[in-house]
Amino acid sequence: MTYILGIETSCDETAASVLAVGSSGCPKIMSNIVFSQIKIHQKYSGVVPEIAAREHVARIIPVLDAAIREAKITKNKLAALAITSGPGLITSLLSGVETVRTLAFAWQKPVVAVNHIAGHLAAAFIERKKKVKFPALALTVSGGHTDLVLLADYDRYQIIGRTLDDAAGEAFDKGAKMLGLGYPGGPAIAKMAAKYSSSSRKNIGLELPRPMLHSANYDFSFSGLKTALWYKIKKDSEYQKHLPEYCHQFQAAIIDVLLAKTIKAAKDHQVRTIILCGGVSANTELRQALAGKLKTELPQVEFLLPLLKYTTDNAAMIALAGYYLYRRRKFTTWKKLRAQSVSELA
Ligand code: KG4
Ligand code: ZN
Repeated sequence: MTYILGIETSCDETAASVLAVGSSGCPKIMSNIVFSQIKIHQKYSGVVPEIAAREHVARIIPVLDAAIREAKITKNKLAALAITSGPGLITSLLSGVETVRTLAFAWQKPVVAVNHIAGHLAAAFIERKKKVKFPALALTVSGGHTDLVLLADYDRYQIIGRTLDDAAGEAFDKGAKMLGLGYPGGPAIAKMAAKYSSSSRKNIGLELPRPMLHSANYDFSFSGLKTALWYKIKKDSEYQKHLPEYCHQFQAAIIDVLLAKTIKAAKDHQVRTIILCGGVSANTELRQALAGKLKTELPQVEFLLPLLKYTTDNAAMIALAGYYLYRRRKFTTWKKLRAQSVSELA
Protein backbone atom coordinates (compact mmCIF):
# COMPACT_ATOMS: atom_id res chain seq x y z
CA MET A 1 0.00 0.00 0.00
CA THR A 2 1.25 3.47 -0.91
CA TYR A 3 0.06 6.24 1.40
CA ILE A 4 0.23 9.89 0.34
CA LEU A 5 -0.56 12.82 2.60
CA GLY A 6 -2.06 15.66 0.55
CA ILE A 7 -2.17 19.28 1.70
CA GLU A 8 -3.95 22.24 0.10
CA THR A 9 -3.71 25.91 1.15
CA SER A 10 -3.70 27.79 -2.17
CA CYS A 11 -6.66 30.07 -1.43
CA ASP A 12 -9.13 30.02 1.46
CA GLU A 13 -9.46 26.33 2.30
CA THR A 14 -7.05 24.64 4.70
CA ALA A 15 -7.21 20.97 3.76
CA ALA A 16 -5.42 17.68 4.40
CA SER A 17 -6.14 14.18 3.17
CA VAL A 18 -4.61 10.72 3.29
CA LEU A 19 -4.80 8.62 0.13
CA ALA A 20 -4.03 4.91 -0.07
CA VAL A 21 -3.27 3.08 -3.31
CA GLY A 22 -2.96 -0.70 -3.27
CA SER A 23 -1.61 -3.13 -5.85
CA SER A 24 -4.85 -2.86 -7.89
CA GLY A 25 -3.96 0.81 -8.50
CA CYS A 26 -7.37 1.88 -7.23
CA PRO A 27 -7.07 5.03 -5.07
CA LYS A 28 -8.89 5.13 -1.74
CA ILE A 29 -9.44 8.28 0.28
CA MET A 30 -8.75 7.43 3.93
CA SER A 31 -9.52 10.93 5.21
CA ASN A 32 -10.48 14.28 3.72
CA ILE A 33 -10.50 17.23 6.13
CA VAL A 34 -11.39 20.70 4.84
CA PHE A 35 -11.53 23.83 6.93
CA SER A 36 -13.20 26.47 4.79
CA GLN A 37 -12.54 30.12 5.63
CA ILE A 38 -15.56 31.28 3.61
CA LYS A 39 -17.39 32.60 6.68
CA ILE A 40 -14.36 34.67 7.69
CA HIS A 41 -14.03 36.33 4.26
CA GLN A 42 -17.75 36.82 3.71
CA LYS A 43 -17.85 40.15 5.48
CA TYR A 44 -15.26 41.52 3.03
CA SER A 45 -17.13 40.11 -0.03
CA GLY A 46 -13.97 38.32 -1.12
CA VAL A 47 -10.79 36.62 0.04
CA VAL A 48 -8.42 38.91 1.97
CA PRO A 49 -4.97 37.39 1.36
CA GLU A 50 -3.38 38.34 4.67
CA ILE A 51 -6.32 37.05 6.71
CA ALA A 52 -6.33 33.85 4.64
CA ALA A 53 -2.63 33.26 5.37
CA ARG A 54 -3.06 33.88 9.10
CA GLU A 55 -5.98 31.44 9.21
CA HIS A 56 -3.99 28.78 7.36
CA VAL A 57 -1.17 29.12 9.89
CA ALA A 58 -3.63 28.73 12.77
CA ARG A 59 -5.52 25.79 11.22
CA ILE A 60 -3.00 23.72 9.37
CA ILE A 61 -1.66 21.61 12.25
CA PRO A 62 -5.12 20.69 13.64
CA VAL A 63 -6.32 19.88 10.10
CA LEU A 64 -3.25 17.71 9.41
CA ASP A 65 -3.61 15.99 12.76
CA ALA A 66 -7.28 15.24 12.07
CA ALA A 67 -6.50 13.83 8.61
CA ILE A 68 -3.82 11.48 9.96
CA ARG A 69 -5.98 10.37 12.91
CA GLU A 70 -9.03 9.73 10.76
CA ALA A 71 -6.96 7.65 8.35
CA LYS A 72 -5.73 5.61 11.36
CA ILE A 73 -2.15 5.53 10.15
CA THR A 74 1.16 6.72 11.54
CA LYS A 75 3.53 9.09 9.80
CA ASN A 76 6.00 6.24 9.28
CA LYS A 77 3.69 4.71 6.69
CA LEU A 78 3.57 7.80 4.50
CA ALA A 79 5.43 7.42 1.20
CA ALA A 80 5.39 11.14 0.43
CA LEU A 81 3.84 14.51 1.25
CA ALA A 82 1.97 16.15 -1.64
CA ILE A 83 1.40 19.89 -1.48
CA THR A 84 -0.16 22.48 -3.78
CA SER A 85 2.85 24.58 -4.79
CA GLY A 86 0.87 26.86 -7.16
CA PRO A 87 -0.92 28.62 -8.70
CA GLY A 88 -2.67 30.57 -5.98
CA LEU A 89 -2.31 33.36 -3.46
CA ILE A 90 1.36 33.43 -2.57
CA THR A 91 0.86 34.01 1.17
CA SER A 92 -1.69 31.18 1.32
CA LEU A 93 0.56 28.84 -0.67
CA LEU A 94 3.54 29.66 1.53
CA SER A 95 1.77 28.60 4.72
CA GLY A 96 1.22 25.10 3.32
CA VAL A 97 4.55 24.84 1.56
CA GLU A 98 6.56 25.92 4.61
CA THR A 99 4.64 23.49 6.85
CA VAL A 100 5.39 20.67 4.41
CA ARG A 101 9.05 21.66 4.20
CA THR A 102 9.30 21.46 7.97
CA LEU A 103 7.47 18.12 8.19
CA ALA A 104 9.45 16.62 5.31
CA PHE A 105 12.69 17.61 7.05
CA ALA A 106 11.57 16.29 10.44
CA TRP A 107 10.04 13.07 9.07
CA GLN A 108 12.62 12.55 6.31
CA LYS A 109 9.98 12.17 3.58
CA PRO A 110 10.03 13.08 -0.11
CA VAL A 111 7.71 15.87 -1.20
CA VAL A 112 5.62 16.18 -4.35
CA ALA A 113 4.85 19.67 -5.68
CA VAL A 114 1.34 19.58 -7.16
CA ASN A 115 -0.16 22.08 -9.59
CA HIS A 116 -3.57 23.14 -8.28
CA ILE A 117 -5.26 22.61 -11.66
CA ALA A 118 -3.81 19.08 -11.88
CA GLY A 119 -5.56 18.58 -8.53
CA HIS A 120 -8.92 19.73 -9.89
CA LEU A 121 -8.49 17.35 -12.84
CA ALA A 122 -7.64 14.44 -10.55
CA ALA A 123 -10.77 15.20 -8.48
CA ALA A 124 -12.86 13.68 -11.28
CA PHE A 125 -11.08 10.33 -10.85
CA ILE A 126 -11.71 9.94 -7.10
CA GLU A 127 -14.14 7.19 -6.11
CA ARG A 128 -14.89 6.41 -9.75
CA LYS A 129 -14.55 2.72 -10.48
CA LYS A 130 -14.98 2.88 -14.26
CA LYS A 131 -11.86 3.22 -16.41
CA VAL A 132 -11.69 6.58 -18.15
CA LYS A 133 -11.63 6.49 -21.94
CA PHE A 134 -8.94 8.73 -23.40
CA PRO A 135 -8.44 11.14 -25.06
CA ALA A 136 -10.50 13.22 -22.68
CA LEU A 137 -11.27 16.92 -22.59
CA ALA A 138 -11.56 18.71 -19.25
CA LEU A 139 -13.25 22.02 -18.69
CA THR A 140 -11.69 23.27 -15.45
CA VAL A 141 -13.63 26.18 -14.08
CA SER A 142 -12.65 27.69 -10.76
CA GLY A 143 -12.22 31.04 -9.05
CA GLY A 144 -8.75 31.44 -10.54
CA HIS A 145 -8.91 29.41 -13.77
CA THR A 146 -10.93 28.61 -16.82
CA ASP A 147 -9.03 26.14 -18.95
CA LEU A 148 -9.80 23.56 -21.60
CA VAL A 149 -7.35 20.71 -21.09
CA LEU A 150 -6.76 17.71 -23.34
CA LEU A 151 -5.83 14.56 -21.46
CA ALA A 152 -4.04 11.69 -23.19
CA ASP A 153 -4.01 9.79 -19.88
CA TYR A 154 -4.85 10.40 -16.20
CA ASP A 155 -1.79 12.60 -15.83
CA ARG A 156 -0.82 13.70 -19.35
CA TYR A 157 -2.16 17.15 -20.10
CA GLN A 158 -2.15 19.87 -22.71
CA ILE A 159 -3.95 23.17 -22.25
CA ILE A 160 -5.70 24.08 -25.52
CA GLY A 161 -7.76 27.05 -24.32
CA ARG A 162 -7.94 29.42 -21.39
CA THR A 163 -9.46 32.66 -20.21
CA LEU A 164 -7.75 35.77 -21.46
CA ASP A 165 -8.86 37.78 -18.42
CA ASP A 166 -11.26 36.82 -15.60
CA ALA A 167 -11.96 33.21 -14.69
CA ALA A 168 -15.57 31.97 -14.75
CA GLY A 169 -15.70 31.71 -10.95
CA GLU A 170 -14.17 35.17 -10.67
CA ALA A 171 -16.93 36.48 -12.97
CA PHE A 172 -19.54 34.87 -10.69
CA ASP A 173 -17.85 36.38 -7.63
CA LYS A 174 -17.54 39.88 -9.14
CA GLY A 175 -21.06 39.80 -10.59
CA ALA A 176 -22.46 38.80 -7.20
CA LYS A 177 -20.55 41.61 -5.53
CA MET A 178 -22.04 44.14 -7.97
CA LEU A 179 -25.51 42.79 -7.29
CA GLY A 180 -24.94 42.91 -3.53
CA LEU A 181 -25.17 39.12 -3.13
CA GLY A 182 -21.98 38.52 -1.15
CA TYR A 183 -19.24 35.90 -1.33
CA PRO A 184 -18.79 33.29 -2.75
CA GLY A 185 -20.69 34.61 -5.74
CA GLY A 186 -21.26 31.35 -7.65
CA PRO A 187 -23.63 29.69 -5.19
CA ALA A 188 -25.33 33.07 -4.47
CA ILE A 189 -26.01 33.76 -8.14
CA ALA A 190 -27.12 30.18 -8.77
CA LYS A 191 -29.58 30.36 -5.86
CA MET A 192 -31.07 33.66 -7.03
CA ALA A 193 -31.17 32.51 -10.67
CA ALA A 194 -33.24 29.50 -9.62
CA LYS A 195 -36.02 31.92 -8.66
CA TYR A 196 -36.27 33.24 -12.21
CA SER A 197 -39.30 32.37 -14.26
CA SER A 198 -39.28 33.05 -18.00
CA SER A 199 -43.02 33.71 -17.97
CA SER A 200 -42.98 36.31 -15.18
CA ARG A 201 -44.66 39.58 -16.15
CA LYS A 202 -42.01 41.39 -14.10
CA ASN A 203 -39.24 40.46 -16.58
CA ILE A 204 -37.40 43.37 -18.21
CA GLY A 205 -35.97 41.41 -21.15
CA LEU A 206 -32.38 41.79 -19.96
CA GLU A 207 -29.78 40.84 -22.55
CA LEU A 208 -26.10 40.26 -21.85
CA PRO A 209 -23.24 39.53 -24.28
CA ARG A 210 -21.59 36.13 -24.85
CA PRO A 211 -17.94 37.20 -25.25
CA MET A 212 -15.85 35.24 -27.79
CA LEU A 213 -18.70 32.83 -28.46
CA HIS A 214 -17.77 32.57 -32.13
CA SER A 215 -14.01 33.18 -31.98
CA ALA A 216 -12.00 30.58 -33.87
CA ASN A 217 -10.16 29.27 -30.81
CA TYR A 218 -10.85 27.66 -27.44
CA ASP A 219 -10.20 30.77 -25.36
CA PHE A 220 -12.61 32.61 -23.10
CA SER A 221 -13.09 36.16 -21.87
CA PHE A 222 -15.40 37.20 -19.07
CA SER A 223 -14.36 40.73 -18.18
CA GLY A 224 -16.58 42.26 -20.91
CA LEU A 225 -19.60 40.41 -19.54
CA LYS A 226 -18.84 41.76 -16.09
CA THR A 227 -18.59 45.32 -17.49
CA ALA A 228 -21.84 44.85 -19.43
CA LEU A 229 -23.57 43.81 -16.20
CA TRP A 230 -22.15 46.85 -14.44
CA TYR A 231 -23.58 49.24 -17.06
CA LYS A 232 -26.98 47.53 -16.96
CA ILE A 233 -27.12 47.90 -13.18
CA LYS A 234 -26.03 51.54 -13.34
CA LYS A 235 -28.84 52.33 -15.77
CA ASP A 236 -31.49 50.40 -13.84
CA SER A 237 -32.40 52.06 -10.55
CA GLU A 238 -34.78 49.19 -9.83
CA TYR A 239 -32.38 46.32 -10.55
CA GLN A 240 -32.86 44.92 -7.06
CA LYS A 241 -36.46 44.08 -7.96
CA HIS A 242 -35.19 41.96 -10.84
CA LEU A 243 -32.35 40.08 -9.18
CA PRO A 244 -33.53 36.61 -10.32
CA GLU A 245 -33.54 37.81 -13.95
CA TYR A 246 -30.13 39.48 -13.61
CA CYS A 247 -28.67 36.33 -12.06
CA HIS A 248 -30.33 33.99 -14.53
CA GLN A 249 -29.10 35.96 -17.55
CA PHE A 250 -25.59 36.41 -16.13
CA GLN A 251 -25.31 32.70 -15.35
CA ALA A 252 -26.77 31.77 -18.75
CA ALA A 253 -24.21 33.98 -20.55
CA ILE A 254 -21.32 32.26 -18.73
CA ILE A 255 -22.75 28.79 -19.34
CA ASP A 256 -23.43 29.43 -23.06
CA VAL A 257 -19.80 30.35 -23.73
CA LEU A 258 -18.38 27.51 -21.61
CA LEU A 259 -20.59 25.00 -23.42
CA ALA A 260 -19.97 26.25 -26.95
CA LYS A 261 -16.18 26.16 -26.58
CA THR A 262 -16.19 22.79 -24.84
CA ILE A 263 -18.36 21.15 -27.52
CA LYS A 264 -16.25 22.69 -30.31
CA ALA A 265 -13.00 21.44 -28.73
CA ALA A 266 -14.51 17.99 -28.07
CA LYS A 267 -15.58 17.64 -31.71
CA ASP A 268 -12.32 18.97 -33.14
CA HIS A 269 -10.22 16.61 -30.99
CA GLN A 270 -12.61 13.65 -31.19
CA VAL A 271 -12.45 13.00 -27.48
CA ARG A 272 -14.11 10.01 -25.83
CA THR A 273 -14.73 11.61 -22.42
CA ILE A 274 -15.61 15.09 -21.21
CA ILE A 275 -14.69 16.08 -17.66
CA LEU A 276 -16.16 19.08 -15.86
CA CYS A 277 -14.19 20.09 -12.77
CA GLY A 278 -13.18 22.99 -10.48
CA GLY A 279 -15.32 24.95 -8.03
CA VAL A 280 -17.76 26.24 -10.68
CA SER A 281 -18.55 22.65 -11.67
CA ALA A 282 -20.68 22.58 -8.51
CA ASN A 283 -23.16 24.70 -10.51
CA THR A 284 -26.23 22.57 -11.17
CA GLU A 285 -27.34 24.52 -14.27
CA LEU A 286 -23.89 24.13 -15.82
CA ARG A 287 -23.80 20.41 -15.05
CA GLN A 288 -27.26 19.85 -16.50
CA ALA A 289 -26.73 22.05 -19.54
CA LEU A 290 -23.48 20.29 -20.47
CA ALA A 291 -25.00 16.85 -19.90
CA GLY A 292 -27.97 17.81 -22.10
CA LYS A 293 -25.79 19.20 -24.87
CA LEU A 294 -23.64 16.07 -24.89
CA LYS A 295 -26.69 13.85 -25.17
CA THR A 296 -27.87 15.61 -28.31
CA GLU A 297 -24.57 16.57 -29.96
CA LEU A 298 -22.06 13.96 -28.80
CA PRO A 299 -24.08 10.99 -27.46
CA GLN A 300 -21.14 8.59 -27.68
CA VAL A 301 -18.93 10.73 -25.43
CA GLU A 302 -18.85 9.87 -21.71
CA PHE A 303 -19.43 12.62 -19.19
CA LEU A 304 -17.40 12.61 -15.99
CA LEU A 305 -18.04 14.86 -13.02
CA PRO A 306 -16.24 14.88 -9.68
CA LEU A 307 -18.39 14.03 -6.67
CA LEU A 308 -19.72 17.30 -5.27
CA LYS A 309 -17.41 17.18 -2.22
CA TYR A 310 -14.37 17.11 -4.53
CA THR A 311 -15.41 20.02 -6.78
CA THR A 312 -14.28 22.93 -4.59
CA ASP A 313 -10.81 23.04 -3.06
CA ASN A 314 -9.83 19.96 -1.07
CA ALA A 315 -6.69 17.95 -0.38
CA ALA A 316 -7.90 14.54 -1.60
CA MET A 317 -7.50 15.80 -5.17
CA ILE A 318 -3.99 17.05 -4.34
CA ALA A 319 -3.07 13.68 -2.82
CA LEU A 320 -4.23 11.85 -5.97
CA ALA A 321 -2.47 14.25 -8.38
CA GLY A 322 0.56 13.89 -6.07
CA TYR A 323 0.36 10.10 -6.31
CA TYR A 324 0.41 10.27 -10.13
CA LEU A 325 3.65 12.27 -9.92
CA TYR A 326 5.10 10.08 -7.16
CA ARG A 327 4.65 6.89 -9.19
CA ARG A 328 6.61 8.53 -12.01
CA ARG A 329 9.26 9.38 -9.41
CA LYS A 330 8.59 13.10 -9.81
CA PHE A 331 9.29 14.08 -6.23
CA THR A 332 11.72 16.43 -4.61
CA THR A 333 13.13 17.28 -1.18
CA TRP A 334 12.18 19.84 1.47
CA LYS A 335 15.20 21.87 0.37
CA LYS A 336 14.00 22.33 -3.21
CA LEU A 337 10.27 22.79 -2.63
CA ARG A 338 9.06 26.31 -3.51
CA ALA A 339 5.67 28.05 -3.65
CA GLN A 340 4.88 29.67 -7.02
CA SER A 341 1.88 31.99 -7.31
CA VAL A 342 1.97 31.58 -11.09
CA SER A 343 2.59 28.03 -12.19
CA GLU A 344 1.88 26.29 -15.49
CA LEU A 345 0.20 22.92 -15.72
CA ALA A 346 2.86 20.57 -17.09
O1 KG4 B 1 -12.05 25.51 -7.10
P1 KG4 B 1 -12.43 26.52 -6.11
O2 KG4 B 1 -12.92 26.06 -4.77
O3 KG4 B 1 -11.25 27.50 -5.81
C1 KG4 B 1 -10.36 27.95 -6.79
O4 KG4 B 1 -9.46 27.17 -7.16
O5 KG4 B 1 -10.58 29.08 -7.26
O6 KG4 B 1 -13.52 27.44 -6.83
C2 KG4 B 1 -14.12 28.50 -6.17
C3 KG4 B 1 -15.01 29.20 -7.18
C4 KG4 B 1 -15.59 30.52 -6.66
O7 KG4 B 1 -15.38 31.50 -7.64
C5 KG4 B 1 -17.06 30.20 -6.48
O8 KG4 B 1 -17.90 31.33 -6.68
C6 KG4 B 1 -17.29 29.15 -7.54
O9 KG4 B 1 -16.12 28.36 -7.52
N1 KG4 B 1 -18.44 28.31 -7.25
C7 KG4 B 1 -19.55 28.29 -8.02
C8 KG4 B 1 -20.48 27.43 -7.37
N2 KG4 B 1 -19.88 26.94 -6.24
C9 KG4 B 1 -18.64 27.49 -6.19
N3 KG4 B 1 -19.83 28.93 -9.17
C10 KG4 B 1 -21.04 28.75 -9.70
N4 KG4 B 1 -21.99 27.96 -9.14
C11 KG4 B 1 -21.75 27.29 -7.99
N5 KG4 B 1 -22.70 26.51 -7.46
ZN1 ZN C 1 -9.38 25.41 -6.81
